[in-house]
Amino acid sequence: MTPRSSTPRASAKRKRAAPRPAPRGARARPIETDKYALYQRAVQLPEHEVAFCSRVFRRCFDRPALRLREDFCGTAAVCCAWARSRPDRRAWGVDLDPEPLRWAREHNLAALTPAQRGRVVLLQQDVCQPSRPRVDLIAAQNFSFFTFQRRDQLRAYFARARAQLDREGLLVLDLMGGPQLWRDEHRETRRLGGFHYVWEQHRFDPITHRCQFSIHFRLGDGRWLRHAFRYDWRLWTIPEVRELLAEAGFARSEVYWEGTDGATGQGNGRYRRCAQAASDPAWVAYVVGIKSSASSRPL
Ligand SMILES: C[S@@+](CC[C@H](N)C(=O)[O-])C[C@H]1O[C@@H](n2cnc3c(N)ncnc32)[C@H](O)[C@@H]1O
Repeated sequence: MTPRSSTPRASAKRKRAAPRPAPRGARARPIETDKYALYQRAVQLPEHEVAFCSRVFRRCFDRPALRLREDFCGTAAVCCAWARSRPDRRAWGVDLDPEPLRWAREHNLAALTPAQRGRVVLLQQDVCQPSRPRVDLIAAQNFSFFTFQRRDQLRAYFARARAQLDREGLLVLDLMGGPQLWRDEHRETRRLGGFHYVWEQHRFDPITHRCQFSIHFRLGDGRWLRHAFRYDWRLWTIPEVRELLAEAGFARSEVYWEGTDGATGQGNGRYRRCAQAASDPAWVAYVVGIKSSASSRPL
C-alpha cells in the first residue's frame, strides 16, 4: 500500500500479473471474504521485506542476519518468510491483538514445514515490554509505529527496541509521507485479482499530524467489507524519527529512498541509501537505526 499509487505501501512494490480469463470449464475461484487474506494480498510483500533487511544487515556488518523480531507482526507474514529464507534463521513475532496472531497460526504458520514452524515464536504482548532473546534485526513494517502519538512514547519504544538488539543490530522502520496524505475525505481504489482494495483518508490535522485512515475491500461479488482495518496514527516525519532514534541511543540512522519508474512516475520498489531526495507528493521510505558505531560503507 503506497501513497505513490494509491494507499500505504506495497502497490508500488507489488508487481502482479494481470488476471487471466479462466480456462473453459474451469471452476470459478471462490470469493475471498477473509479480511486478513485480502490484506496480505493487497498490502504485504514479506519476501521483499526479508530481502531488504538481509541486504542492509549484510552491508552494515558483513555477515548474514539470523534472528529477527517482527514488531506489530499482525499475521506474522515477515516472520514466516524469514523462517523460509534460510534453515538457520529464527523469528519472533510480537503483537497485542490475539485475533491476527490466531490467524497467523492457522494460516501462515500452518503453511510452513514443521522444521520452519519450529523456528517461529509468536508473542501476544506490547512491543514496549521486554522480551527475550536479543536479536540481530527488529522490523516494524507498514507504518505501525505511527500508533505512538507522543514523542516520549516513540522514544521509549525505540529505546526498548535498541535494548532488545545485539551489539550489531538494526531497527528497520518504514514510513510514508508527502502532501498527498494531507487531505481529508480522500479515497483511492486499486483493483486486484478478484477484489478491490480501497484506501480511505478520513482526516489529517496539520497541527498535530494526527490522521485517520481505513482500509475497505469490495469483494468479487460486489459486497463490501467496510472499515476492515482502521488506523488512528500520527504521521511522523523522517527527521523527527531520526532525531528520536539518536535520543534513544542508536549510533546512526540511514534513510533508504524509493526510486521512480521513469515510465509511470510511480515508485519502482528499489530502495537506495540517500542523504537527500527530491520533493515528492507521496513517498514510502525506510529508516534504519544502527545500534552500534560499527560503520557500513559510506554513501
Ligand atoms: C498496521 S498493522 C501491521 C501489521 C503488519 N506488521 C503489516 O506489516 O501489515 C498494526 C499491528 O500492530 C498491532 N499493535 C498496535 N499497537 C501495538 C503495541 N503497542 N504492541 C504490539 N502490537 C501492537 C496491532 O494489533 C496490529 O496488528
